[in-house]
Amino acid sequence: MAGNRTFTMIKPDAVRAGNIGGILAMMNDAGFRIVSMKLTKLSAEKAGEFYEVHKERPFYGELVEFMSSGPIVAAILEKDNAVEDFRKLIGATNPAEAAPGTIRAKYATSIGENAVHGADSDENAAREGSFHFAATEMF
Ligand code: PPS
Repeated sequence: MAGNRTFTMIKPDAVRAGNIGGILAMMNDAGFRIVSMKLTKLSAEKAGEFYEVHKERPFYGELVEFMSSGPIVAAILEKDNAVEDFRKLIGATNPAEAAPGTIRAKYATSIGENAVHGADSDENAAREGSFHFAATEMF
């Protein structure tokens, strides 16, 4: 059965561009409830750990550098079928392929600087949420 929580980050490009409010409004309008949220900054070490699953991919170094280049918003969101519905809301990794009306179609500028992250499975959503938040910070 699909779980009801997902994990997201508003990435440094979108925070720098002043798009936190616009992106949160799209999440809210799509029916996601905020369980946990914070503005924070990943060290290169923490970003490397978060994206460890992509360690062998050619863009790993670039991804870690980018994700530690400025503040991010980390959040756990709740809705029925959260992981799948949120991936639909954010759109394809490459904004050139993101469907109209998706967050990446509106706010992403490249495959690397693509505005938002969304967990790709219930298992990863739980792992990524616990990476950023203690149980006492989930409401
Ligand atoms: S996914 O979501 O795992 O299916 O997407 P994937 O294409 O496998 O990409 C995994 C994360 O790597 C980022 N990415 C890149 N960063 C920099 N340069 C290039 N070329 C690149 N390609 C992919 C992509 O934005 C994904 O980050 P997250 O935070 O998971 O969205």
